[in-house]
Amino acid sequence: MTRQAEKPFLYVVVCAAGVAAGVDRLITAAQARDWAVGVIATPVAAGGFFDLEAAAARTGRPVRSAWRTPADPRPFPPPDAVAVAPATFNTVNKWAAGIADTLALGTLCEAAGLGIPVAALPCVAAALAAHPAYLDSLARLRGMGVRFGEPYNGEVRPDGSRPDFAWERALDLLGPL
Ligand SMILES: Cc1cc2nc3c(=O)[nH]c(=O)nc-3n(C[C@H](O)[C@H](O)[C@H](O)COP(=O)(O)O)c2cc1C
Repeated sequence: MTRQAEKPFLYVVVCAAGVAAGVDRLITAAQARDWAVGVIATPVAAGGFFDLEAAAARTGRPVRSAWRTPADPRPFPPPDAVAVAPATFNTVNKWAAGIADTLALGTLCEAAGLGIPVAALPCVAAALAAHPAYLDSLARLRGMGVRFGEPYNGEVRPDGSRPDFAWERALDLLGPL
């Protein structure tokens, strides 16, 4: 933990999967475990996949998606840990390839170099999860120390229900700091 007198700071990186609408559950669970939270959304996720105003109200900080300008102060403290949930096929592959063309990806790409723990909960359809590039990406990121939750494809069951997305698993993977 970088600031002894303050709560540890968790970046929640939200990608553009349908389950992102439920990210409030992760934010509240993290706060219940005594994390302070800042939300970073991919540009697509920020374009309508979850309620930005609700997330800002819950965390007390604006949801970030765009890069700041060099003159702007850093709006969040440095992270003590990062949770990527949901993690999309697109973001997992770009992250593993070292592409940093969004704030979310830049944050993820530098986390390993900062030596902070990162947990990721993929939400990827089975057809995409079978792509060899995705399998390589998972292996590469695991090799960098990223802690992955169990595969989740978000597909609807025959009875119309959807399996629960295990948001709290990201916190379990990070453990206590
Ligand atoms: C309604 C909707 C739901 C989606 N759900 C998923 C999903 O569960 N997993 C996924 O990998 N992509 C999903 N996508 C596709 C991604 O949004 C798309 O690949 C996007 O480029 C991902 O951007 P990001 O990784 O920067 O957030 C979904 C798209 C839509 C329109």
